[in-house]
Amino acid sequence: NGLPEHSVKLINSLESLKGLFDLVLIKVPKTLALLEDQLIRLRPHLMPSTQIILAGMIKTLPPSIWKMLERLVGSTTTALARKKARLIFASLDADLAVPANPYPVCYRLEGSDYLISNHANVFSRDSLDIGTRFFLQHLPARQDAFDIIDLGCGNGLLGLMAAERNPAATIHFVDESFMAVASAKENFYRALGQERKATFRVGDGLTDFEPNSADLILCNPLNSQERY
Ligand SMILES: C[S@@+](CC[C@H](N)C(=O)[O-])C[C@H]1O[C@@H](n2cnc3c(N)ncnc32)[C@H](O)[C@@H]1O
Repeated sequence: NGLPEHSVKLINSLESLKGLFDLVLIKVPKTLALLEDQLIRLRPHLMPSTQIILAGMIKTLPPSIWKMLERLVGSTTTALARKKARLIFASLDADLAVPANPYPVCYRLEGSDYLISNHANVFSRDSLDIGTRFFLQHLPARQDAFDIIDLGCGNGLLGLMAAERNPAATIHFVDESFMAVASAKENFYRALGQERKATFRVGDGLTDFEPNSADLILCNPLNSQERY
């Protein structure tokens, strides 16, 4: 659109917002919990005059989104659908009593004392996924595994349990989601302490890893239809 690059400030999903906004545009995310987290974080930066516009494809917009907007922001209206998409308009009701942000949420990992913390956009944030549970039963234990990658780490459960079973290994956690990597880091250090060696990065697959740098790669892939 011709705007200079330096006029745009990008922030990740866990960084704090600053100031007040006149206009807020939101593409409704796949995960409603993420929208809930975003709205609660946004609220202190809204004014009654702020224009808030959300957009999404009709088939992916759950009816509960209206209730969520009315509960966390204020009165909400919609425009007629066009080309299977819909706009939603919300405006701030400054008198609403808004609950505290419920994220991150925690659960105790079955069969262990580990507390697993999950930011809003993390896969299977409320309980252990059945695929992950099955994977955990088959994690290798090797004396010669010095570098293990938890690829698409989510909350980092696979890497955490691989660290337990492979005491000599450094675990490398990677996920494309900032919230996932932050959760994995919290969970790993809380469970195993700061001395245990690990690296954490936000990235696309194995792009940032050197060739032949891993002894073992763990990956519980995402089904493309899956919603968190
Ligand atoms: C099915 S979840 C598995 C999470 C965790 N490993 C587990 O087993 O519970 C897949 C994860 O892969 C991440 N992911 C998807 N595409 C990715 C990519 N290209 N690079 C890095 N991570 C990716 C998602 O953000 C998600 O956290």
